[in-house]
Amino acid sequence: MAALEATSARAVVLTPAHQWPTGVVLAAERRLALLDWATRRKAVIIEDDYDAEFRYDRDPVGALQGLAPDLVVTLGTVSKSLAPVLRLGWIASPPRLAGTLARAKQVTDRGSPGLDQLALALLIETGRYDRHLRRMRAEYAARRDVLVQALAEHAPGVPLTGLAAGFHAVAHLPPGTTEQEVIRAARSRSVGLYGMSTCRADQAPSPPQLVLGFGNTRHQAIQTGIAVLGDILGLALPPRSEALLAVQAPRHPGPAGRGRNAWPRRSRRSRPVMAESGRRAPVRIHTVTATFPAA
Ligand SMILES: Cc1ncc(COP(=O)(O)O)c(C=O)c1O
Repeated sequence: MAALEATSARAVVLTPAHQWPTGVVLAAERRLALLDWATRRKAVIIEDDYDAEFRYDRDPVGALQGLAPDLVVTLGTVSKSLAPVLRLGWIASPPRLAGTLARAKQVTDRGSPGLDQLALALLIETGRYDRHLRRMRAEYAARRDVLVQALAEHAPGVPLTGLAAGFHAVAHLPPGTTEQEVIRAARSRSVGLYGMSTCRADQAPSPPQLVLGFGNTRHQAIQTGIAVLGDILGLALPPRSEALLAVQAPRHPGPAGRGRNAWPRRSRRSRPVMAESGRRAPVRIHTVTATFPAA
C-alpha cells in the first residue's frame, strides 16, 4: 500500500482472489486499505477475478466488488472454467462506468459472439455451469494434490505456496539454485518449466522460484515432471539411478502396436522420458505449467 500511496495513480489492476503469479490471496486488512485508498483518491479498482471459482480449502473468497460496488470494476471470464478459446467474460461495474465500458467494447470488437453467449446463458440458467464447476473443482483439487505429493516425494524441502486456489503454485527452490539452469536441464529431459524471474518487472533471477501450473496437466505428467525436477535438484529420496528408473520405466510390459518402439495409444501423451537410457527420446514436453482447464 505504501508504494501505491507514493504514486499519483487513479486506477489499480489486481487479482485479489489468487494473485498471478505468486498465488497470494489478498488479506482482509489489505482489501480494506485498498478501498480506503480508492475512496480518498477517487480512484477505480479493477479486480481481475480470473480463477476465483476454484478455491480448494474453503468457499470462494468474496469479490472486492461486493464490498464497494461504486469503486470496483470486476472482470470475470470463462477462460479458466470452460475454455480460453470461447473468449467470453463479464464485467460488473459501477453504474456510472457501465455505458462507457459498453461503448468501448462495441468499438473494440463489436461485441462477443451471440450464439456462444446464448449457450453460456443456457448453461448457467439450467444449473449445468454450476455442476461443471463442482466437478472440475474436484478434478483440479486432485491434480493439485498430485503435485503436492510428487514434490514431497521427489523434492522434499522445496516449499510450495499459493495453493489455496486456481491452477498454479510457486515452488521455492533451494538458495543457491540457478533458476534458468534448472529450467534448461528440465527442458533437455522433455519437461517444460517456467521460472518466476520472467514474471518479475526487472527479471531478477532470485529468489529462484518456479511457477508450476497443474490446470491442463494430467496426473502422470505431473508425477513424471516433478520426478525429473527432484532428480535435477538432487533432492530426491531414492538414489539417482532409482529415480531415473522411476521416471523411465514404462507402465506397460513393453511397447505394443506397430514396430518395436510403438506405444499403446493411451500412453502417448505421457509416455516416459528415455533420454538417458540410451534409447531415442520421444520429443514430448510434459508441461507442468500450463494453466488452462481441461475441456
Ligand atoms: C491473470 C489473468 N487474468 C485473466 C486471464 C483470462 O484472460 P482471458 O479471459 O482474456 O482469457 C488469465 C488467463 O490466463 C490470467 O492469467
